[in-house]
Amino acid sequence: MIATQQEKSLSFRIIEKFKETFNTDPMVIRSPGRVNLIGEHTDYNNGFVMPAAINKAIYMAVSRRDDDLIHIVSQDLELSYLGDIAKVEPTSLHWPDYILGVVQQVQALGHPVGGFNCVFGGDIPLGAGMSSSAALECATAFSLNELFGLKMDPLTMVKLSQKAENEFVGVKCGIMDQFASMFGRRNHVIRLDCQSLEYEYVPFNTDGIRIVLLDTNVKHSLASSEYNTRRQQCEAGVALIRAHHPEVRSLRDATLEMLDKHVAPADALVYQRCQYVVEENLRLLAAGEDLKKGDIEAFGQKMFATHEGLSRKYAVSCPELDFLVEQVKGRPGVIGARMMGGGFGGCTINLVREAVIDELVAELTPAYARAMNKELKVYIGQIENGTSLI
Ligand code: GLA
Repeated sequence: MIATQQEKSLSFRIIEKFKETFNTDPMVIRSPGRVNLIGEHTDYNNGFVMPAAINKAIYMAVSRRDDDLIHIVSQDLELSYLGDIAKVEPTSLHWPDYILGVVQQVQALGHPVGGFNCVFGGDIPLGAGMSSSAALECATAFSLNELFGLKMDPLTMVKLSQKAENEFVGVKCGIMDQFASMFGRRNHVIRLDCQSLEYEYVPFNTDGIRIVLLDTNVKHSLASSEYNTRRQQCEAGVALIRAHHPEVRSLRDATLEMLDKHVAPADALVYQRCQYVVEENLRLLAAGEDLKKGDIEAFGQKMFATHEGLSRKYAVSCPELDFLVEQVKGRPGVIGARMMGGGFGGCTINLVREAVIDELVAELTPAYARAMNKELKVYIGQIENGTSLI
């Protein structure tokens, strides 16, 4: 892998800090954040997603210790944690939990984990919906695998990272973020079936088009009750259908007709939520075909449709996200845009022709500040490889 200047300087900083703290040379792992082109709130409904790993990552330097202690340093927070490998439990600090949760899951699989030192940091903006937590979990799983020669395969590491987030951190996320962080491939998106976990790399070689992330600067809180409420609403819809179609196990198996017949008359809100999910799965399948045909314009239109669904039917958007999508809609050079991730803040993902990016940012930044009284942050996403040793 050819490291960029940014990557070199980030990993250099981490290594320096590690040597200064622990007086020894570490092994260094890079684990990226992710974007998701289409397929939102579908992963925990056993549906499809289309994420990719990006050029923003966590860098983790690690080495084994002779005792049973875990010593973790967060370079960005300038905080450290010291604990015992035999007593891994959630902390009041919260940030070590992403690492400790993975340690616990690795132990639960019966793998021997000894004491270790760890320094981590990176450039994934926190709370911007690029999955810094999944990146940190995957970095930890990968590090432990290497340090202790555990021979876990990547999918095992993905699953235990998700479990750590579900059970230790307490966020009931789906599998998309960890999968994308671990399995990412440069210049490809991953078309993942969250039911079978079969996946396909689809080339994303869109000459002259860039992924532009517009950060609302509104901190989303995934742990917020809304995410879990959506999950429950989807489950409620499935239960209503199952009364008539016992073979339906998730919204993946549901059709729009089933929703019309069995959910609409019973619960209008649950119907809306489920309708969005079923439509989004269909949209993703069609969008995958667009990409294969090279019809990026059609793909972009589906992104706008996804936003509409997320905002109106699934109700996980916010005024700032809606504003940013409205502002770019119909603008020459903007191919598609929508809110990305769990919602209630974070970023919009935009496919934009290179030639118009500067002008777009120059106009949008003051417009956003005027309308929302917040600073707009802009990131240009590049699709990179998943978690690896550097
Ligand atoms: C968050 C979760 C993912 C997924 C998205 C919504 O990023 O961590 O598992 O559910 O929200 O698509």
